[in-house]
Amino acid sequence: MKTVPFFNYPHLFKSREEDFVRIFKDIGSRGAYILQKDLVEFENNLSKFAGTKYAVGLANGTDAIWIALMAAGIGKGDEVIFSSHTYIATAAAIHFVGAIPIPADCKEDHMIDPESVEKLITNKTKAILPTQVNGRCCDMDEIMRISKKYNLIVLEDAAQGLGAQYKGRGVGTFDKGATISFYPAKNLGSFGDGGAFITNDKDMYDKVMLYRDHGRNDDGIFVMWGFNSRLDNLQAAILDFKLTYYDEEITRRRNIALIYQGRLGHLSQLLLPPSPNSNPDYFDVFQNYEIEAERRDELKQYLKEFGVGTLVQWSGQPVHSITSLGFSGKGLPYTEAMFTKCLMLPMNTALVDDDVEYICDLIIKFYSI
Ligand SMILES: Cc1ncc(COP(=O)(O)O)c(C=O)c1O
Repeated sequence: MKTVPFFNYPHLFKSREEDFVRIFKDIGSRGAYILQKDLVEFENNLSKFAGTKYAVGLANGTDAIWIALMAAGIGKGDEVIFSSHTYIATAAAIHFVGAIPIPADCKEDHMIDPESVEKLITNKTKAILPTQVNGRCCDMDEIMRISKKYNLIVLEDAAQGLGAQYKGRGVGTFDKGATISFYPAKNLGSFGDGGAFITNDKDMYDKVMLYRDHGRNDDGIFVMWGFNSRLDNLQAAILDFKLTYYDEEITRRRNIALIYQGRLGHLSQLLLPPSPNSNPDYFDVFQNYEIEAERRDELKQYLKEFGVGTLVQWSGQPVHSITSLGFSGKGLPYTEAMFTKCLMLPMNTALVDDDVEYICDLIIKFYSI
């Protein structure tokens, strides 16, 4: 029987093994492990790619969020509105700066719902932290309109969104900046943990640079309290190489989405993500292909029996459902209904067209039984 894993981790290395070994040898033989030129080069290339003035390599995407929140001056008692359809890391970062995470609902494209955001604003609200989930940018016109109306900061969690655009502008260019994750399964994945902050804001850049290296400036003087959250030089060198063909990988992901759309678009039992090219305002990079499906659990089991791996995002728990952390578990109707139906189909560059066709054949068969 054919098998199509949800994600193929060994492929990450095997796909360009010779190049990666060459990079390991180069870094090792130079002994260039921490804060070396490879990191600086990667940061320069990352900011060029993102269309931002600055990029800072950090230890992971979670650190990136809480460091950016601190740099933006968010702290004790401040309320920060974020989408419940995100990883716990977004809310944890808000919690760990002493602020209060306020979850908002999402809408049909699974992005934060600006109407829900506006209803949650109080006199304690200081920031909106939308997640550019699944590699799509949310409706930034509406988010920015609300932020200006209520004088709020906007910081994007773009852990899944590097390269995604809204009306020709990339993530990280809208207000205070965006945080990125290089977790191995991310569109741009390292061989371990990694993250970044991208921004046009010089003050944010300066502060994040200090926070990530013990508050130490370029002259080695400690000018403020800081931490160790540096992106390893080796990971930076690997990522810099992978960035050279990142555009091709995005194109491949968008082509896979087109195959899914072409084969499954007619099924009334499914809600598919917006098709690439269906709305010129959006350029999606398809970190995930998250559908809504009738009889979701049965479909998941059926695909498993035929060797296809699927996943329900965040282990099936939108953040506001986590009552053990003090969330109410209710009040966000779209998210709650969506989480009884959502399912991620395989979406990665290890897939060949035959794999995608196989998955589609199975889904069509499942709904015809
Ligand atoms: C939306 C979102 N936010 C934050 C993170 C945290 O990133 P990291 O795992 O690099 O800390 C992730 C990664 O899983 C994510 O998907």
